[in-house]
Order: sequence, then C-alpha cells, then structure tokens
Amino acid sequence: MARYSHIIGWGMYAPDHIVTNDDLAKIVDTNDAWIRSRTGIRERHIVDKADESTSTLAARAARAALQKAGIPATALDMIILSTSSPDHLFPATACIVQDAIGATNAGAYDLSAACSGFVYGMAMAHGLIVSGQADTVMVIGAETLSRLVDWSDRNTCVLFGDGAGAVIMQASEEPGGFLASVLGADGSGANLLTLPAGGSRLPASVETVRRGDHYIKMDGKAVFRFATRVMADATRKVVEKAGLTLDDVDWIVPHQANVRIIESSVVKQLKFPKERVYINLDRYGNTSTASIPIALTEAVEEGRIQPGDHIVLVGFGAGLTWAAALVQWGRPSPPPPTWRRWWHRLLYPLHRARSAWRRGRRRVFATWMGTKERSQEELEGLRAKAGLGKSKEEE
Ligand code: ACO
Repeated sequence: MARYSHIIGWGMYAPDHIVTNDDLAKIVDTNDAWIRSRTGIRERHIVDKADESTSTLAARAARAALQKAGIPATALDMIILSTSSPDHLFPATACIVQDAIGATNAGAYDLSAACSGFVYGMAMAHGLIVSGQADTVMVIGAETLSRLVDWSDRNTCVLFGDGAGAVIMQASEEPGGFLASVLGADGSGANLLTLPAGGSRLPASVETVRRGDHYIKMDGKAVFRFATRVMADATRKVVEKAGLTLDDVDWIVPHQANVRIIESSVVKQLKFPKERVYINLDRYGNTSTASIPIALTEAVEEGRIQPGDHIVLVGFGAGLTWAAALVQWGRPSPPPPTWRRWWHRLLYPLHRARSAWRRGRRRVFATWMGTKERSQEELEGLRAKAGLGKSKEEE
C-alpha cells in the first residue's frame, strides 16, 4: 500500500507585544510611509519578556497544532524545528520543545535553512513518513529574530518580527497531502544575509561584540533580486513536479518578507491572481521560517483554504536557500471531537511536573555522586576504567 503524508494539525503563536512603524520611527531614522511602501509592513510582534525565546514561542504553536490535530504529544515520532534564532547553539531548541510539550516518544532536531527551513522541514517529514520511519511528525518554524537584530540599523530592524507556526504531518493510505517539493541552495551567496559571529568561524570576543558582528547583516537589494527570481522558478518547478499546472493551484502561501517581492515574483512573473496569494506580512513583518506556517494557519482558520485545494508553499532565505512544496489540503480522517482536543490540555501541567521531577532527580543523583565517600578499591577501579594511573597523593 502506498503511504502518503497529510497535514492533520496546524497552529501558530505570536508574542502579545506589537511594535508599529511609528514606534520604530522613534528609535531610527525611518517613517511609516517608507516602511509601508517599500515592504508592506505595518506592525510586527516582538518578544518583550526575558523568559520568552524561540522555544517558548515554538511550544505554544506546537500545543495549538496538537490541539487542532486532537492527538497527545506522546503520539509524535519526530519533531523537526526550523530556526535561525535557536535558544542556544546547542542543545537543539527542538529538544527543549520536546520536553516542554511532553513528546516523550519523539526524536527531535533543529534544521537550519533560514526562511526556507519550514518547507525543508516538511519535505524531511514527508520523507520519514513515506519511507515508514515515522508515522506522525511535527514541523515547527520559530524565530525570535528581534534578539539578533541591530535596533539602530534601519536597513534591517524594520523588517523582522517574532513568532512561531507548526504543522503535524501523519501517514495515511489516502492519496493527497504532500505531493511534491523543490529544495535548493546557492552557498556562493552566503555573505548576502548572515550573522557573522558566534560560530566556529568567528567565535565571540570583545572585538566581535564591539564591531556588532552578532547582529544580522544583509545586502537587501541583492537578496531582493535573488528572491524574486527563485520564488517564481521554484513555484513553476514544484507545480510541474506534481504533474499539475498553475491553473490547478488554488492558493500560494509565500514567505512573507516583502509585499513587493511577492508581487513581482508570483503575481507578475507567474501571472497568478493576487487574491489567491495569502499575505499577512502587514501584521507580522518577516518572521523568517515562521512566516509560512503562520500564514498557512491563518488562511485555514479564516476558511480560505478548503479541503481538496492545491496549495503552493514557497520561500527563500539566507544560505542562500529556496524551497517550494505542493500540498493538497484535506485531513483523511475526520477531526476528533472538541472534548478530546481539550482533554490533552489538562496534561500540560503533568508534563511540566514530569520534567521538573527528572531535573530534580538528576541534580540529587549528581550531588550524591559528588559527595559520596568511596573506598580505595572503588576509586582505583574508576581510575583504571578511565585509563588513569594512581594520583600523586595515592602514591
Ligand atoms: N527607512 C527609511 N529609509 C530607508 C530605510 C528605512 N527603514 N531603509 C533604507 N532606507 C533608505 C536607504 O538608505 C536608501 O537611501 P539612499 O537612496 O539615500 O541611499 C533608500 O531608502 C532606498 O534604499 P534601498 O535599499 O534601495 O531600498 P529598497 O527599495 O531596496 O528596500 C529592502 C530595502 C526593504 C530591505 C529591500 O531591499 C528588501 O526587502 N530586500 C529583501 C530583504 C529580505 O527579504 N530579507 C530577508 C530574507 S529572508 C531570511 O532569511 C531572514
């Protein structure tokens, strides 16, 4: 029997705090008219609490997707989290989310393909599902780019916003769901959009901090040119790969970077009707890899996307990378009753308690190991195992 992968759950979260163009005009030399006319952005959601980060936004979106799917977190086999603003270089933010939502049976890893990452993640999830390695996979796109933006650089700080979106993909024998994908990269453009320092190439130092190398650097014009070309190309290719034509496509949900990029790529070059392109960047700004799942969730919740619709998800980003997917919308099995969706919410405090218990147990064990008096034989045994000779004191 052929296996297909369908989206059975979707969700999003954006922080409460909204920053308008007028707010930005108070801190950099810009104005609402410029930002609106050059980008289409009106406002963006930005984290404003110290305990908010990519993992907390991602966990919120993940819970919303689980609730929509009506499945417990324990049903997940894998969590793929795409981000360019992880909580840490390591561990993976996906693992922090896995713990937060109680996905105790899931593997978890981060994926770095910038704004294209969410579609890359969906393609990876599809591969795991159709090859039989997983039945249920959560794909999350989450960012807190506001923590990596130079708030004195008007070229970048007006563009980005924070947020997270997630989908759950599940195996089914019902044809449809994820039909095709096109993934691409061109590392020769790596320098066009980059966060230079903090990795192994340029480790953090007083000098990197002084130079502002821990902030996003971007050649906006070059990225713009690249984006308009690849968005149209990738859309054409993925439609062809799925054996369809553009006339069969009901909706395009593009990466929400700049309305001018969307207009000059999918609308002008592909001559695709603008009213069939879902755009919400005016309210969120560019949330990077979170933008497609946030837009998809809103389009579905607003009732624009209907079962049977063919949707193209298409993005571009740092790397340089690009990605497009063609999805036929529709859940193969009916959604679970509302009470079951809410029931899972009651388990969240239990997940938190379980996580706290495991941390506590580890701490107690470590303390016990540290303070325990060991016999000479025991110490020698441990030293021998570790390949160490006797210590000077012992000799
Ligand atoms: N407010 C007012 N003026 C500004 C601002 C601002 N915020 N930013 C730039 N300007 C000025 C510039 O200094 C320039 O002035 P000058 O002519 O006196 O030199 C003028 O406006 C025009 O600047 P341009 O760079 O030509 O503006 P452009 O129309 O190209 O728009 C923008 C700039 C919005 C950045 C555009 O190039 C763009 O959207 N590029 C793509 C960026 C993008 O999508 N990045 C994300 C990629 S996805 C990811 O991986 C995160």
